[in-house]
Amino acid sequence: MNYKKALQHPIFKTVSQSTKELNIDSYVIGGFVRDFILKRGSAKDIDIVAIGSGIALAKQVAKNLPNKPKVQVFKTYGTAMLRYDDIEVEFVGARKESYQENSRNPIVENGSLQDDQNRRDFTINALALNLSEANFGELLDPFGGIQDLENKLIKTPLDPDITYSDDPLRMMRAIRFATQLGFKIEEESLNAISRNSERIKIITNERIVVELNKILESKKPSTGFLLLEKTGLLNRILPELTALKGIDEIEGQRHKDNFYHTLEVVDNISENTDNLWLRWAALLHDIGKAPTKRFYKRTGWTFHGHEFEGSKMVYHLFKRLKMPLNDKMKFVQKMVFMSSRPIVLANDEVTDSAVRRLVFDAGDYVDDLMTLCEADITTKNPKKFKKYHNNFKIVREKIVEVEARDHVRNFQPPISGEEIMNTFNLKPSKEIGIIKETIKEAILEGDIPNEHEAAYQLMLKEGKRLGLTIQN
Ligand code: CTP
Repeated sequence: MNYKKALQHPIFKTVSQSTKELNIDSYVIGGFVRDFILKRGSAKDIDIVAIGSGIALAKQVAKNLPNKPKVQVFKTYGTAMLRYDDIEVEFVGARKESYQENSRNPIVENGSLQDDQNRRDFTINALALNLSEANFGELLDPFGGIQDLENKLIKTPLDPDITYSDDPLRMMRAIRFATQLGFKIEEESLNAISRNSERIKIITNERIVVELNKILESKKPSTGFLLLEKTGLLNRILPELTALKGIDEIEGQRHKDNFYHTLEVVDNISENTDNLWLRWAALLHDIGKAPTKRFYKRTGWTFHGHEFEGSKMVYHLFKRLKMPLNDKMKFVQKMVFMSSRPIVLANDEVTDSAVRRLVFDAGDYVDDLMTLCEADITTKNPKKFKKYHNNFKIVREKIVEVEARDHVRNFQPPISGEEIMNTFNLKPSKEIGIIKETIKEAILEGDIPNEHEAAYQLMLKEGKRLGLTIQN
């Protein structure tokens, strides 16, 4: 392969020239080279290694660029960054590093390119292209990274116990890359992850979540979650999920394995949505089943109230992992809380009023909720599979129909509290609430249309029932 092709962006010429001016060598390394070979689209990140000072090189490059970008210097790490053309270019001096037992912060010494490549996470991320003028585009691949790209293999340059122990986040990264790229983790490496899984505790939750999100955003997220489970990482990060594992049997009655079911749901939903938070909802939709599981002689296994329990658990899980406790979290909670509603509905005959209530309760999220519930159909019985999907199709049609007619999606009561007060000459009182609730219920039941006149008549009737007199 001609690697010069990878270096067509003008930034590389500038780096090359700046390298020459400083009388050092430099290389582009890591994800940029890997993704060029994998043809994964144009990179937004470029990592440059200087055999010398990364900060000095960054400053020289900035000086030589037409727009003279600002250089951001991270003194503690000896790195620098500049932005050019929407691309983040990161500069680092080649390093020899050793890590301390309880910290991700390395002790850094200057080193050669080989030292720098040694301390990288995977062979496929240690590929470097020379940027010096004389050898522009020359590939440096000391660990057979190209071969591993061809064989679709995740492998560490050094003994995996050293690489993972140096920076335990790499265990998550190995699984994330395996999931994103459809690669296999070399057996020795996978064993090392299992052996070192306990070390994940020194990694901040924020960084763990970055990797979890990337796994969830992959085409087939189950690949990653199965690996996380197998290596013991999942139990440390998301014990709510591993608690769903297993099938219990009492008196010949079994329930399904809710862990593997969940992973199927996540894969299913990933075919229909790129919305990360909806994918999170799929991942967490059954977590309330572990604490609510009961067996009764008459009815068998039940998970009564698991949706409510699950939605409460979502909050604690987000909080623990330092995920945003904002509208995204509320969305996931709502999806989990409502996750059984359309299923119950599709089991029976689909009535207008049931659909109206669903739209009323789910509001703008009703389409997302339907997408979640369709993904939740994992039955292996083809007859049932077809029946459920058909019923959901009917539900979706009815949602459109009912919404066009009754506008309950973002329900605005056709009669305001003020109008009720004026009509009956009332001060704020519980009667107003009663009348409003009666009108809302009548609309949802389909007893009256969602229109002012019909609601007004019902208000008068209800007022009379409550013994109120009309103001003249
Ligand atoms: N790296 C490493 N260990 C880490 C993180 C990063 O050795 N824990 C090295 C790898 O060589 C990696 C490079 O730093 O290729 C850049 O890291 P980063 O930008 O995080 O990842 P990319 O490999 O570029 O991939 P992606 O953008 O998909 O995260």
